[in-house]
Amino acid sequence: MNILVTGGAGYIGSHTCVELLNAGYDIVVMDNLYNSCEKSLEAVKKITGKDFPFYKCDMLDYEATEKIFKENKIDGVIHFAGLKAVGESCRIPLTYYHNNITGTLNLLDIMEKYNVFNMVFSSSATVYGSPKTVPIKEDFPLSTASPYGSTKLMIENILRDVYGANNKWSITLLRYFNPIGAHESGTMGEDPKGIPNNLLPYIAQVAVGRLECLSVFGNDYPTPDGTCVRDYIHVVDLAIGHVKTVDKKSNEPGVHIYNLGTGNGYSVLEVVKAFEDACGKPINFKIAPRRAGDIPECYADATKAKEELGWTAERDIAKMCEDNWRWQKLNPNGYNG
Ligand code: NAD
Ligand code: UFG
Repeated sequence: MNILVTGGAGYIGSHTCVELLNAGYDIVVMDNLYNSCEKSLEAVKKITGKDFPFYKCDMLDYEATEKIFKENKIDGVIHFAGLKAVGESCRIPLTYYHNNITGTLNLLDIMEKYNVFNMVFSSSATVYGSPKTVPIKEDFPLSTASPYGSTKLMIENILRDVYGANNKWSITLLRYFNPIGAHESGTMGEDPKGIPNNLLPYIAQVAVGRLECLSVFGNDYPTPDGTCVRDYIHVVDLAIGHVKTVDKKSNEPGVHIYNLGTGNGYSVLEVVKAFEDACGKPINFKIAPRRAGDIPECYADATKAKEELGWTAERDIAKMCEDNWRWQKLNPNGYNG
């Protein structure tokens, strides 16, 4: 089976390419490299010993995207491509709506034209808004609090309508919790541009000396130590979740929805401690005011993915931090170091 991986040079996409190739799938990668670089794909080739076509292509460019389908027999698409920074999406919402929505509409149109009806979509736990209870199940009410989150929910709804109109489609919405960690080779990992927004890359850059001090956003939440609780999941476990989805759900008509999380919640301070254990030195941090939009607790009920996909996350928080630290230590300036 030949899978088109959109956004395949990015953080989650590149790790998924490795797992797809290791599982025997063929892949074609497309990415405009807006938030990534081709070196991640060189690492994929080195780790797997396999080659694959890469198209430096923007999904907003209909003709260039269609060319991929003309030149390759595609059987299914894993759709990672998109802009993903919550704060930035509030500053430039139109860019986010245009890129994520228009890009997806182009892709869906081309897929229908070429009779490709298998799609796995990167959704997010952000579509649960501020849940009333945790752990979060797939049938919880949906809402969003940022333009980024709205693009995810809108695309979920578009995909439901696409299936409603033509039930040849097999669509899987994977709602990720908080992906962290890196490939254990230390050759692939998250490489955010500029100052990181997310917790793990920030901690890792403090540990390696690129940043001075972590601000812990709020210690007065109704959680055991007052800091926010999240479901951190190793990016390799997440990548394997995609392979299981393709194994089990390809060509099964419907809209299938799964949480991909570990089911365990860790506070910001617990993550700091786990990272200190991994890197063997203290992380300089200070307590800062709450960050707008953060919810106190967010973790998954991942039972459905276990029962229906045969998937569970296997790597614990110590392994996540250990692999994250190896990547950061070996590549202090990311891929362009
Ligand atoms: P990433 O930025 O590393 O990867 C996304 C890739 O898409 C990048 O390589 C980028 O260059 C590419 N891209 C963006 N717009 C494009 C366009 N118009 N045409 C072609 N390529 C384009 O991000 P990631 O962390 O790997 O996330 C992958 C997907 O998972 C995204 O859709 C993201 O919203 C979703 N997601 C991520 C998280 C997270 O915390 N990392 C959580 C939930 C969901
Ligand atoms: N945090 C800090 N200091 C920092 C960065 C983060 O204390 O410098 C805290 C946040 O306040 C939050 C926790 O660390 O409590 C995790 O924050 P992240 O920014 O790493 O992750 P979020 O849970 O806010 O958001 C992530 C993705 C979103 C996605 C969401 C749900 O970034 O894209 O998970 O899946 F929508």
